Amino acid sequence: MRIPIIAGNWKMNTTVSEAVKLVGDMRPLLDPVNNVEKVVCPPFISLTAVKEALKGGSIKLGAQNMYFEEKGAFTGEVSPLMLAGLCEYVILGHSERRQYFGETNEIINKKVLAALKANLKPILCVGESLAQYDAGQTEAVVTDHVTGSLKDIPASASLIIAYEPVWAIGTGKAATSEQANKIIGIVRKVVAKMYGDSFAQSLRILYGGSVTADNIAELMKQPEIDGGLVGGASLKGDAFTSIVKQTAQVNK
Ligand code: PGA
Repeated sequence: MRIPIIAGNWKMNTTVSEAVKLVGDMRPLLDPVNNVEKVVCPPFISLTAVKEALKGGSIKLGAQNMYFEEKGAFTGEVSPLMLAGLCEYVILGHSERRQYFGETNEIINKKVLAALKANLKPILCVGESLAQYDAGQTEAVVTDHVTGSLKDIPASASLIIAYEPVWAIGTGKAATSEQANKIIGIVRKVVAKMYGDSFAQSLRILYGGSVTADNIAELMKQPEIDGGLVGGASLKGDAFTSIVKQTAQVNK
């Protein structure tokens, strides 16, 4: 059985005090919720304060990115060693990183390897653009993202994949639960081919892209979907709480 996980990707939103307030509002509602792993991923600059604000509770912490080198002359970058001990998860290869910051599979693969070496759990994002979707290339694109980004990882690697069609991100136009289930099934097959069936069967694969309190229950009913990577709705305490609580109630 794979324990579901709901991760909030706050992106470039919230000041430090807003971040602390947001988790402060969520804690009384979310700390007692079992059967689902809860993760928030605030901006780097808020990680320390949010870690403090989450102390003694059950909500876990993640970063949104990192560089693959451990230290050195890389102005403005944050290394795996800086995140280790501060948070448990790190989102890698988000489509916004691929699109606006030129991240390729090769770079993302280096980041995945560096994160694992530092005992951080990557949340690797994969997914096709609208043009690729329209051209019927979804399967080829996710296969390419998974094989390229997960090259040479140890068979014991602890990581998560998020399938996020770019056309669904921030658009209010989520994939249907059937479509998301189908593509996640394909992602799992690709992983099985690379690292074997038992690794693939224990791997949690999330759906992301306009997840809301209105569509999470339907998505979570699907056998292949192990949770959600939530952007916009993770910035609203009540919406995120509802998403987590509905996820905790799904039996499959
Ligand atoms: P969204 O973003 O939920 O706002 O669509 C998801 C993501 O980019 O991770």
